[in-house]
Amino acid sequence: MTQTPVKLVDYQPFSHVLNRVELTFRLAPQATRVLARLHLAPNPAGPGGDLRLDGEGLRLIALALDGVALEATPDATGLTIAAQALPDAPFVLESEVEIAPEGNTALEGLYMSGGMYCTQCEAEGFRKITFYPDRPDVMARFDVRIESEMPVLLSNGNPVAAGPGWAEWHDPWPKPAYLFALVAGDLVAHSASFTTASGREVALNIWVRQGDEGRCAYAMDSLIRSMRWDEQVYGREYDLDVFNIVAVDDFNMGAMENKGLNIFNSKLVLATPETATDTDYERIEAVIAHEYFHNWTGNRITCRDWFQLCLKEGLTVFRDQQFSGDMRSHAVKRIEDVLALRARQFREDGGPLAHAVRPDAYVEINNFYTATIYEKGAEVIGMLKALVGEAGYKAALDLYFDRHDGQAATIEDWLRVFEDATGRDLTQFKRWYTEAGTPRVKVTEDWAEGVFTLTLQQELPPTPGQPDKGAKVIPVAVGLLNPNGDEVVPTTVLELVEPVQSFRFEGLAARPVASILRGFSAPVVLERNVSAQERAFLLAHDTDPFNKWEAGRALAKDVLARMIVEGAEVSRDWLAALARVALDESLDPAFRALALRLPGEDDMAATLHDAGHVPDPARIHAARRAMAGALAQELAGALPGLMAGLAVQGPFAPDAAQAGKRALRNAGLALLSRLDGGAAAEAAYAQADNMTDSLAALAVLLEAGRGAAELAGFEARWAGERLVMDKWFMVQVLHAAPQDLASVVERLTTRADFDWKNPNRFRAVIGALAANHAGFHHASGAGYRLLADWLLRLDPKNPQTAARMSTAFETWPRYDADRQALIRAELERIMAAPGLSRDLGEMAGRMLA
Ligand code: PHE
Ligand code: ZN
Repeated sequence: MTQTPVKLVDYQPFSHVLNRVELTFRLAPQATRVLARLHLAPNPAGPGGDLRLDGEGLRLIALALDGVALEATPDATGLTIAAQALPDAPFVLESEVEIAPEGNTALEGLYMSGGMYCTQCEAEGFRKITFYPDRPDVMARFDVRIESEMPVLLSNGNPVAAGPGWAEWHDPWPKPAYLFALVAGDLVAHSASFTTASGREVALNIWVRQGDEGRCAYAMDSLIRSMRWDEQVYGREYDLDVFNIVAVDDFNMGAMENKGLNIFNSKLVLATPETATDTDYERIEAVIAHEYFHNWTGNRITCRDWFQLCLKEGLTVFRDQQFSGDMRSHAVKRIEDVLALRARQFREDGGPLAHAVRPDAYVEINNFYTATIYEKGAEVIGMLKALVGEAGYKAALDLYFDRHDGQAATIEDWLRVFEDATGRDLTQFKRWYTEAGTPRVKVTEDWAEGVFTLTLQQELPPTPGQPDKGAKVIPVAVGLLNPNGDEVVPTTVLELVEPVQSFRFEGLAARPVASILRGFSAPVVLERNVSAQERAFLLAHDTDPFNKWEAGRALAKDVLARMIVEGAEVSRDWLAALARVALDESLDPAFRALALRLPGEDDMAATLHDAGHVPDPARIHAARRAMAGALAQELAGALPGLMAGLAVQGPFAPDAAQAGKRALRNAGLALLSRLDGGAAAEAAYAQADNMTDSLAALAVLLEAGRGAAELAGFEARWAGERLVMDKWFMVQVLHAAPQDLASVVERLTTRADFDWKNPNRFRAVIGALAANHAGFHHASGAGYRLLADWLLRLDPKNPQTAARMSTAFETWPRYDADRQALIRAELERIMAAPGLSRDLGEMAGRMLA
């Protein structure tokens, strides 16, 4: 196994410039021929020397330079043409290779899914298609000819010409190879059109299999709203005559922003009220927007190298978060995003896989499509915006698009536009990009003679390879409330730049209550000694919706931690405070549903570990159930009225208002089942006319130890529907009792329809296995063993997905010695496996280091 890292400091421009590429594909499942004509010239800014092309698993048929046959023998990773064989002027290099898409189970390069041909080239898939400088700073114009009997033949850019058995495409915008795409299949389109602000008519198509065309309306609607939003908010217009989206069933990730031809995991396109949940609809809207927004942030301006991945991903996530907030509710969106950030990114940042938003070395780039690059990358941009203000942000972004359009840029370029547009020095701020780890900010408060002083101290925990860190620039948004609940100091952004810094607030009549880190203005852990009374006060009175929610969250965590560690009783004050929020009809139902969501078990394990305890998964599970039971008792009298008042009138709509009502109603149903053993959930399941309510009721029934008949009925109704059956698999695993989890997974994985080579199905069962905290961490170690067995089975077929799922083990240092030993033994077993992939090898190695 080769584990040689690629390093940022070794960056060198490519030896040549590649102006134009002509590709011809003769598609066949076992023997596709790819003919490539690369129009190359020496790069005056390059290092000179040999011409090195990437290529993996390609059978070379022919090679010629300016029409003259060339002898060259590829090695395992590519092809070198010696400097002395290269002209000192522009030349054309032609190659013909053969590849076998049918046998491609890794789903990288050209592969087949449900009888259709499709491609996935990010990050380094193009090298599995033809010999090519497969690096993002080599940008070329592509002409593509596809020859195939398939009725629909698609590639990037605009259609040029087509006839029976062939089609030609031209992409006028220079692009790196990772944005190349090709699709050939028996597909039908859901079509619409869009007129850009400057009057360009764009044909929009969502391509799906026959029978799925009725499930594309929401994706199309989301696309149109995204296009309009990017014009209105960022001044960015679409730049081709067509925009195509294709849904495929076999896909390693969510979706891909190939220029003019986005390819999507079908679960992020197809939706009807009967088959998709509110969460699915929200995700579809967000991911359609995300991929569309990449057209400017990623495609028109791309990354110089893969170390700069957050340049496109952090920014595009930030943009899709803004969009979702505008479409739905900013408060609710922010809470959801922070929940996800803490669950995935803080977890990553605090463990053996921690890495900087801009890493400086990697073994396998596929392993760096992480919560840190994406979600923390977006947080860093949110902080920049908080520091420079709305106008500064807009000026910087305009300058970015202006200055770097058509380029492959770096984080230095990105920060420079902010410096040039605002005059601010971002040298210290840059540490957010280069240093890993979640800062902890300790707060102390002082009140004397009418002056309120907040002292903030930042601590920067060590992470792998980075023992010492410099102070960060941390924007801390603060508001002050009077004891009567009025806001006396509206939100103000304090800039913490020193290790310790004090901020004074003068002219106050009474000691205020501070609301700190409003809107979660920085991705840090706030350490604050706050009484339960003060938290309850903020839960009741804070004008900042995020901090209002956060106060309840912190209160719940304190209470739950005491229940777990000391065996304490549920706090009456917490119950009363939460009940008030749950029943407060002046609040958005979606917000109330979030307030009712108890802290997750993994979250509690992390919290206890941070506080110096060794988390016991079984105790956490039991205490959380007890907490839910007590909350149900507290609300018992109010639940029927609450739920009746949330009935949705009229036909299903996937909008935020209806979704919020369903979320709160189903939270009520879950509580009710703690009182009636699931009777109401049985009735709710029987009456449900949409997937949101069906799945919620089913989950509640399984938690209550019931649901066998419903599971059978669900299966009978949806047996042929892959996406719906993924939910059926997943709900059983997520809600299995801890001691039953291994046997539930074993039973499900022996079914004929457990198609484990399909990433969605694999994630539905094996991903859910790791998400069932108490079950996965059951003292027997059966969960760990099962996961490792499946990772080892998947790895030879699909290393990318195997490596991604291995992160379930990243939290091992939190647990007791027995569990640590069990997990480490599984990681060592993985490391010792013959033929282990570079992907999984790197992950296991880092987790063991
Ligand atoms: N670039 C894609 C996105 O964020 C993610 C992706 C990466 C998809 C690698 C496939 C492979 O939108
Ligand atoms: Zn992206």
